[in-house]
Amino acid sequence: RKGFVIAVDGPAASGKGTIARALAKHFDLPHMDTGLLYRAVALKLWRWGGDPNVEFEALRACDDLGFDPGDEELRSEPVSRIASKISSYPSVRDALLQRQRDFAAQEGGAVLDGRDIGTVIAPNADVKLFVTASAEVRAQRRVRELLERGMPGHYEDVLLDIRARDERDAGRPVAPLRQAPDSLVLDTSDLGIQESIAEAIRLVGEQV
Ligand code: C5P
Repeated sequence: RKGFVIAVDGPAASGKGTIARALAKHFDLPHMDTGLLYRAVALKLWRWGGDPNVEFEALRACDDLGFDPGDEELRSEPVSRIASKISSYPSVRDALLQRQRDFAAQEGGAVLDGRDIGTVIAPNADVKLFVTASAEVRAQRRVRELLERGMPGHYEDVLLDIRARDERDAGRPVAPLRQAPDSLVLDTSDLGIQESIAEAIRLVGEQV
């Protein structure tokens, strides 16, 4: 049979990354965290001292994009902010498109997580999961995560930041964060991580 493709989309700190990784492990599929591509472009630009407000500078950073997924700097605050900015440029999204499509087209199938996997990258995915949670719950998770990484943040600030990022992700004209009409919604607001994973595996399992 042809490869089984699982698209996982959702807002920041919804749990989509953890869920996508767990699905990949469970169904024995390769996984791509597509946010890392945008983060890698942002990190490169940041190291160059390039201007994130200038589209062609961001586009130039897409050339020969190589990165170490374990690099902690990819997850730093300045890089997150720049990634959010440069991901709104159509030329940047275009430059990163084929790499994601190729990954999704692998013979055995794949799991990809991001914002536009079910809508733009893999509209024919076998299963589309839209993972969400209230902004408050996501802010609490982010605060805990920051603390664990030794970078304490204030709940109110984090909540404002999450709301701003949601607005930017959903409001941009190109590939906005949208629930695909044929996606299954998984709201993790009241679920722990293990419960979220179990529910995701159950939802996907029904479609296999
Ligand atoms: O998911 P993550 O927070 O790592 O994504 C980093 C940035 O890249 C986000 O600001 C998001 O808007 C953008 N992104 C995107 N499309 C994707 C994945 C991430 O625009 N498929």
